[in-house]
Amino acid sequence: MELHASTHEDIVHAANIVRRGGLVAFPTETVYGLGADASNGQAVTRIFAAKGRPADHPLIVHLSAADEMARWARDIPDAAWVLAERLWPGPLTLILKRATGVLDAVTGGQDTIGLRVPDHPVALALLKAFGGGIAAPSANRFGRVSPTCAAHVRAELGHAVDYVIDGGSCQVGLESTILDLSGSLPRVLRPGAVTADLLARILGKPLGSRAGNQPRVSGSMASHYAPDTPLRLIQAHAIETAVQSFLIIGQSIAVLSMRQLVSHHPDCRWITMPDNPREYGQLLYARLREVDTWGCRWILVEQPPALAEWEAVHDRLKRSASVRGVEGIAS
Ligand code: TXA
Ligand code: MG
Repeated sequence: MELHASTHEDIVHAANIVRRGGLVAFPTETVYGLGADASNGQAVTRIFAAKGRPADHPLIVHLSAADEMARWARDIPDAAWVLAERLWPGPLTLILKRATGVLDAVTGGQDTIGLRVPDHPVALALLKAFGGGIAAPSANRFGRVSPTCAAHVRAELGHAVDYVIDGGSCQVGLESTILDLSGSLPRVLRPGAVTADLLARILGKPLGSRAGNQPRVSGSMASHYAPDTPLRLIQAHAIETAVQSFLIIGQSIAVLSMRQLVSHHPDCRWITMPDNPREYGQLLYARLREVDTWGCRWILVEQPPALAEWEAVHDRLKRSASVRGVEGIAS
């Protein structure tokens, strides 16, 4: 598998590969996606094989414009059109009732479908050149940290993907907000750069709570988005003590903290993270991949502030900290 720059010819070529039932990894503003023709069952099945993802986990269908929603969804509520108008292209996925004819392979057999118009020139050009919906999960192996640059895709999926369009590093860096509009109350299933607060303001009503909601969303499983090295979340005021206590018992550590280095110990490697949620989110997955190559015994991550604008970062950190396997994740 080679990486390809994103010239017009590359994109047309990639669209042809999708048309022929191939798999194309492409950049979006959130993370890289592993795309296939959403109306080709065999092509969609290849996505699951490439990722090692269970077949009943639904995929998001990417569209080039909001008016294509009606081909994939039925009984579309006004709220969907309002949000699409305000926030698409953008890091928001809407869950709607699926239209007849949509493949079970895409929806995992559910009666709903996830739709999104990504805010990335390469993704939009690919969608336009292809002329249909592209089903695309994040281009990582199941249960792993999502890729935010083309090299991550290559490291994760190698030859399982036919073509990778290199569009540089993703601006948002965390997966899209998922909003379920298929029930009586709009509910966030996965927090992202589009905050619950903004959604509620645009809709002019409060959202349903996330708690107790157990949809079949692989990103909602506790140990999703995990690096190989076990990760511990440490409260900000306790970071220095935690660092010392791991070093005293001879365990090597990588630290992601918003403050400057507090240890020069050879067994301690330090990354200072940005103190604003937008930049932090953009870098988080790349940093986790980097520290994963260091072979430390632990990754210690200083808890960011308990504020609403950090919700998506908190969510991903919490999942990264869960013990792999305990929640029944296979890979
Ligand atoms: O930012 C993103 O959303 C990226 C880029 C590539 O668009 N995509 C992404 O896809 O994160 P994926 O498959 O890794 O995560 C999408 C999540 C999954 O957890 C899936 O279960 C959930 O969306 N999902 C998709 N369709 C759904 C549906 N009909 N009902 C509930 N959850 C759904
Ligand atoms: Mg994913």
